[in-house]
Amino acid sequence: MKKTIITDFFTTLSRKHFFKSLSFLTIRILSIRTWKYNLKLEKKILDYLNLRESKIISFYNARSALYHCFKLIWIKKDDEIVINSYNCISVVNSVIQSGAIPIYAEIDKKNLSFDTELLESKITENTKAIVIQHTFWKSAQIKKIKEIVSKYNLVVIEDCSHSLWSKYDDLKHGSFFDFAIYSTGRDKVISGVNGWFLVINNTEYFKNISKIKKNLILPPKKLVLKNLAYNILWSISLKTYDFFGLGKAIIHISRKSWLINEILDENEKECNNSDLNYLLPNSLAAIALYDIHRIFFYQRDREEISNFYDANLESTYFKPLFKELVIETLNYFRYPILFKSVEIKNDFYNYMRKNKVILWHTWSDSNIVPKWTSNEITMYKWDCEVAEDIASKILFLPNNKNVTKKDLKRIMDLIEEYEFLNIENSSLAE
Ligand SMILES: Cc1ncc(COP(=O)(O)O)c(C=O)c1O
Repeated sequence: MKKTIITDFFTTLSRKHFFKSLSFLTIRILSIRTWKYNLKLEKKILDYLNLRESKIISFYNARSALYHCFKLIWIKKDDEIVINSYNCISVVNSVIQSGAIPIYAEIDKKNLSFDTELLESKITENTKAIVIQHTFWKSAQIKKIKEIVSKYNLVVIEDCSHSLWSKYDDLKHGSFFDFAIYSTGRDKVISGVNGWFLVINNTEYFKNISKIKKNLILPPKKLVLKNLAYNILWSISLKTYDFFGLGKAIIHISRKSWLINEILDENEKECNNSDLNYLLPNSLAAIALYDIHRIFFYQRDREEISNFYDANLESTYFKPLFKELVIETLNYFRYPILFKSVEIKNDFYNYMRKNKVILWHTWSDSNIVPKWTSNEITMYKWDCEVAEDIASKILFLPNNKNVTKKDLKRIMDLIEEYEFLNIENSSLAE
């Protein structure tokens, strides 16, 4: 039976995650929420980032981490916060929940982060903060952004959700500005199923940390159990994915029966989530702590596969997006490819899917992801053409540790076959 190659999240899920989650669901059930691993994980993250003088707070999710960061800097109603126009709804949600207005800045084609030529035009007297995003794993133009923000009195937050491990100028992402946020969500560089960290580099804000911490509570037991169940059910499902559809059925049933929780819940889709005070529970911290020790291996596997694609990919229809830009130490978290048109992208996606290669497409289709977010809610004004264009034509090749050499050969053969089948259909490549 041909294996289905999946590019999707759970990119680090392994037998260890399965057994760790199982132990918390059984013999360690009494310690799924209470402290021990959180403090260890927080210390480990600061050590690993070489930011021992900074402070860190761990949260259950992104909205809580960013929302409390905005509280720390005294964001008021109708203040403006400049964010990347190719972005995740969680970021928008946190801005809106804080009372501020999200201002979308255009991206640069080269690194999918701020276009520094256009950034300044988005700064007004109401701008209080800027959230810089290192998209997928590429560095934003830190030096230029520093020059721009130094002219204004702005708080700068680095969103390193995709770029744990990546470096710029020999310093880890997250070292450059007032604040940094990191994610250990299940679809990120390392996974604790859910998890967010706010790193505070600017000492001016240290005095308010205890006030923030006082408002934080542990998430309900049921929510933590669902997170642990996720690792169990997805591990089984991945192992049985091609066994008469058993894996797919397990995912389907567990979603429908609410045995696991989705990355974004219904309230968040509406930018209307008010559960903003959750700390990271102990069990998820323990799983993320295991993963952070493995980060070197994940990076190595992703880099090897990305280098293989760089050396071997040839297509009339798409090109690797970051190929010529590998000049820093990076984590190679995703392998984005950009198509000549939306039609080819959709056609190629369907062709690969038919051949049991499922490409990652969550960040395809719409520049504020996921695609069903309404612009009325996100306050996006259709004014960032590059972001819209890239989002409509992008897809991602598999580059996680589950992809074997044999899988890579199959992927390359399929790409070659696609070229061959469409050689006469020149209109696709126009
Ligand atoms: C750049 C960025 N920031 C924030 C988030 C929110 O992360 P989480 O899913 O862990 O809440 C995401 C999610 O994909 C993201 O891509």
